[in-house]
Amino acid sequence: MAEPTGPVDFDGRYREDPDPWGVHSRWYERRKTACLAAALAQERYAVAWDAACGVGQVAALLADRCDLVVASDLSPRAVELTAAHTAGRVETVVSRLPAVPALAGDAELVVLAEVVYYLPPAERARLAEVLTSLPGATEVAAVSWRHEAEDTWGSGADSLAELGGLLTRSDWKEHTWLQDPSFEIRTWVRSPGSA
Ligand SMILES: C[S@@+](CC[C@H](N)C(=O)[O-])C[C@H]1O[C@@H](n2cnc3c(N)ncnc32)[C@H](O)[C@@H]1O
Repeated sequence: MAEPTGPVDFDGRYREDPDPWGVHSRWYERRKTACLAAALAQERYAVAWDAACGVGQVAALLADRCDLVVASDLSPRAVELTAAHTAGRVETVVSRLPAVPALAGDAELVVLAEVVYYLPPAERARLAEVLTSLPGATEVAAVSWRHEAEDTWGSGADSLAELGGLLTRSDWKEHTWLQDPSFEIRTWVRSPGSA
């Protein structure tokens, strides 16, 4: 597996530029978010956890379909940007995967948008364990960029295949697999009460 060329200073990126990936302006990002919205299995969820919220685009989408959205990111600046973008409609907290913030302990849906490939293999394995042990979790949705990146642990496709392999080794089942030339969305589901 290709290793990143160096550590990524996510918080520094958000401090230099309030939207370093152009999430609010690029058509790629808007299309990705719309496809993610369509890929989710349920119309509504009680509690969703956006586990790497960035500037809050996905959290805002989830706020329309969930009773409670918990949005976390390892970057304090990203969490501030998400809080501003979602204007009090989501709970925000600084937290680094694979840890689960206390507020997200009841999550039914977990969204991992463009983050799994930033986790080294041991943390991905731990993430799969953590997702499986969340008592209310019935759906995991993950998104990856499909082009080459120098700052990730392997490719987006490989990172989602690895996560899926780990989840389906327990009681998760593949649900949706959407492949666009630029991004990939995969979701896994399981019955309530499986944990
Ligand atoms: C490419 S951005 C994607 C942001 C957002 N999910 C989206 O799709 O627009 C990657 C995000 O993952 C966050 N991140 C990276 N590693 C993380 C980790 N271990 N735990 C939580 N967030 C992380 C970064 O701070 C950054 O906000």
